This record gives sequence, structure tokens and C-alpha cells, in this order.
Amino acid sequence: MAMFDEQVAIVTGAGGGLGRSHALELARRGAKVVVNDLGGSPDGTGASTSAADAVVAEILEAGGEAVANHDSVSSHEGGAAIVASAIDAFGTVDILINNAGILRDSSFAKMTDEHLLPVLDVHLKGGFYVTLPAWQVMKDKGYGRVLFTSSAAGLLGNFGQANYGAAKAGLWGLSNVLAQEGAKYDIRSNVIAPIAKTRMTEALFGGMMDFFAPEQVTPAALYLVGPDAPTGEVFTVGGGRVGRMFMGVTPGWFAGPGAVPTVEDVAANLDRIMDETGYIVPSNLMDELQELVMPLFSGSN
Ligand code: NAI
Repeated sequence: MAMFDEQVAIVTGAGGGLGRSHALELARRGAKVVVNDLGGSPDGTGASTSAADAVVAEILEAGGEAVANHDSVSSHEGGAAIVASAIDAFGTVDILINNAGILRDSSFAKMTDEHLLPVLDVHLKGGFYVTLPAWQVMKDKGYGRVLFTSSAAGLLGNFGQANYGAAKAGLWGLSNVLAQEGAKYDIRSNVIAPIAKTRMTEALFGGMMDFFAPEQVTPAALYLVGPDAPTGEVFTVGGGRVGRMFMGVTPGWFAGPGAVPTVEDVAANLDRIMDETGYIVPSNLMDELQELVMPLFSGSN
């Protein structure tokens, strides 16, 4: 099935792993693809043109259309150059998959700027730097699909990954705002939290990762940048499973209109605060404010 005919897609960090898989399938389904990759090592050091060039060669060989870009996502200039590659080669950009990533794990107590800054630069600031110039194009044309690559380690927490976790959770916040700001331009923004065997995870999880191929993540990623994509969602994807992750809020406990609860009141009502029965999933700030305001008028506690 074609699905992306006449569409132009940028995939960052597409020289290997998940990004390569996304780029190949986008091209197979008719998209013209900018294959971006800095070509460095998993910790972000070094650079090489060969990773992106090899994926472009694969796409061309299979009869698809693609160009390589070797800029880093981690600066305004790099982001602008990546989007300029799409404009120069194909005239526009419809789809952006922010996928480039590095790891510099350390326990929190031992975390230095060497661990922290490059990880924030590539994942979190990179999300801004590439999406901003693409956003302008999408806004002008009244169509766009943006996907951010987060991580269960980021959204749920994982030992030794405070830098990565903060950056990856930040992308979720970014995507939620873009989903709202993009709505009137038909720009939709979503997040995936993938699990796959790539050079990034190979060493960490050993043989278990053999059950998680990058190709099993790509279909959900492509659905989320397709014409029928939802917006403001997070899909957790791996090994053939696709699930929805969301932030839920319990009905909680209400002290009463105008009441100033004590610390002891909070402790005494902890069961109600924690009780997940009847939780809601606010889709934006106003949904949550409404939940806070409603008991004031209903008087319920
Ligand atoms: P990977 O290491 O194979 O792919 C990452 C790619 O990004 C590499 O080809 C690398 O050269 C490129 N890259 C790094 N810094 C760059 C920069 N500044 N500019 C442009 N390209 C750059 O690893 P994998 O697993 O395919 O990772 C893809 C994304 O998925 C990453 O964002 C990662 O954090 C995320 N992820 C992966 C998981 C997994 O199970 N493999 C789990 C959760 C998240």
C-alpha cells in the first residue's frame, strides 16, 4: 500500500536501528525521504557520512527516492540544514520523525555536564531545533505530522538514566503543546516509546532483545505520521505489541469549597487520593482545571 505518495518525510538518526527501519518503510510506501544521520558512536562522539549514505543507497536500490543529510540535530543550524535538505531536494516537508539519539548513562550522584548536556542537546533541544523550521513549512501548507521518539525509560524512569529520562519525558511535554498549537493547521504531533534491538540496546538486554526487531516498531510509527493519525498520543511499541500510554488523574479527595486542608487531612484521605477508580485522562490543561472547578459548584467531597 502506497500511503505516502507525493509526501516528503525527514527521519533523523536514520542511518541505523529504528530510524533506518522507518526510512525504508516510508520510502517503500511512496514517501520521498531525507535520511539524516550524524554517523557518530552511541555516546554521540565522532561523525561519519557512511551510515546515512548506506540507507539512501538501500532506498534507491529498491526503487525509492531519498537523499542523505549528515548534520547534527543538536543545534539551530543543524536543524535548519536538515529541513533545507528536504526543501532543496523535494520542495517541502510533510512528515518529521525525530528519532536521533545517544546514551551517556550514569547514576545521578555521579552525573556531570559531560553526561547531561549532550543528551539534552540531542534528544530534547534536537526535538526543538529540527521541528521548528519544519513547523513553519507545515503551518504554511496546512498539513504536517510530527513524531517524537521518547522511551519507557524516560516516561517511567530507569536507574542510571536521569539525563536521558528528563530529555525523553521533555519530548512528551513538547508534543502535547504542539498537538494543541498545531490543531488548526492540521499538524498532528505524537510520541512513541519503542523497544527494539539496536546498537543502543543490544549490550544492555542481551538475548531478550532478539524478540524485538526495529521492523516491529515501524508500523505504529508510520501510522502516527499518516493521514489518519491521532494527535497528542503516546504509543508504547515493541515486539509486535502496540499500547497507549497516558497520564491519568484520580478523582481524588476534595476538602470542601474554600477549605485549607491540613497535612493530617491529606494523610487521612490518602486512600481516596490514590484510588484509581473513575480516573480521568485530561487531554489538556483546561480539562484538568475543569475537574478542579467542578467540585466547587457541586459541593461534593
Ligand atoms: P541507534 O543508535 O541505532 O540510532 C540512533 C541514531 O541517531 C544513530 O544512527 C546515530 O548516529 C544518530 N544520531 C545520534 N546523534 C545524532 C545527532 N546529533 N544528529 C543526527 N543523528 C544523530 O539507536 P536506536 O535504538 O535506533 O535509537 C533510535 C531512537 O529510539 C533514539 O532516540 C533512542 O533513544 C530511542 N529509543 C530506543 C529504544 C530501543 O529499544 N532501541 C528504546 C527507547 C528509545
